[in-house]
Amino acid sequence: MKDEVKTMHSRRALLYMPGDNWKMITKSITLGVDSICMDMEDGTAVNKKAEARATIAKALQELDFGASEKLARVNSVGSGWEQEDIQAVLPFHPDGIVIPKVESYEQVEWASKIIEDAELKNGWPVNSIRILIGVETAKGILNLKEIAAHPRLDSVIFGGEDFAASIGAVRTKDAVELLYARQAVIVACAANDLQAIDIVTIDYKDLEALKLESEFGAGLGFSGKQVIHPNQVPVVQEAFTPSDEAIAYARRIIETFEASQQEGKGAYSLDGKMIDMPLLKNAQKVLARAMAAGK
Ligand code: COA
Ligand code: MG
Repeated sequence: MKDEVKTMHSRRALLYMPGDNWKMITKSITLGVDSICMDMEDGTAVNKKAEARATIAKALQELDFGASEKLARVNSVGSGWEQEDIQAVLPFHPDGIVIPKVESYEQVEWASKIIEDAELKNGWPVNSIRILIGVETAKGILNLKEIAAHPRLDSVIFGGEDFAASIGAVRTKDAVELLYARQAVIVACAANDLQAIDIVTIDYKDLEALKLESEFGAGLGFSGKQVIHPNQVPVVQEAFTPSDEAIAYARRIIETFEASQQEGKGAYSLDGKMIDMPLLKNAQKVLARAMAAGK
């Protein structure tokens, strides 16, 4: 792939709003949120699809998104709407396209071809429009190994409600019914150097529950979380930003590791804990995340 654009945007919080809702779109650009996802899929009523396409196209042309990433979510490949959706927004260069309910490599390839054609036709760098996919069905999880290897991918977004519906699970507060699939997404992302983005907390008024779910997701290895309401943004962004203590500890590991290597020791003791190569790698990940979050 030529002219590769390598920058990967930090996506601690990815905020959705219905693509036909101009008021919410204009509000979203005032929030300092990492990613703004204007939706043509399930957040948009069936009789508002055309209006959503036109409204998103207008937003991409007229609004200044500042440091927020501007994304457009199309309907799933095979829905019958996807072609018109993607063609309506691509001419105005969104930062990325989100494809929901992906179940095969070919579906990513479909979007990849259309996007690359638009990039070449307009003289934009190849890969300057990123692809994020929703994996949120039983088939999607089963085929994740092939899907996640697609070279155009940036992130895999796990949709908890859709997945529960797909397997017939009852959603619970601690989301134990989703754990296997969430971890499958994290593993596929880690193996392919992609960002893993966690479930929406739909009980958007309960910010304490949101905080706990965000911290749990960050601990599992997710790099960010989907949100649906402005009040969720700061809580999620904080939970996915390494704390000052975590950063200081990571720095100490990196410094002491080098000294220990010089002394010919692969494993050594720091504050009564054993440190070796995997802890160094984790410390480097903490610093990379902190830097991506602007810390
Ligand atoms: N993005 C941007 N702004 C939003 C927003 C969002 N997702 N959700 C709410 N707001 C705005 C409202 O417009 C309102 O703005 P105002 O103060 O300028 O009038 C303010 O935030 C407070 O909204 P509130 O009254 O608390 O929420 P609501 O009852 O109007 O809406 C939801 C609640 C859940 C219906 C709404 O947040 C929503 O539609 N979220 C997105 C859902 C979605 O896209 N789902 C598909 C993907 S999972
Ligand atoms: Mg969904």
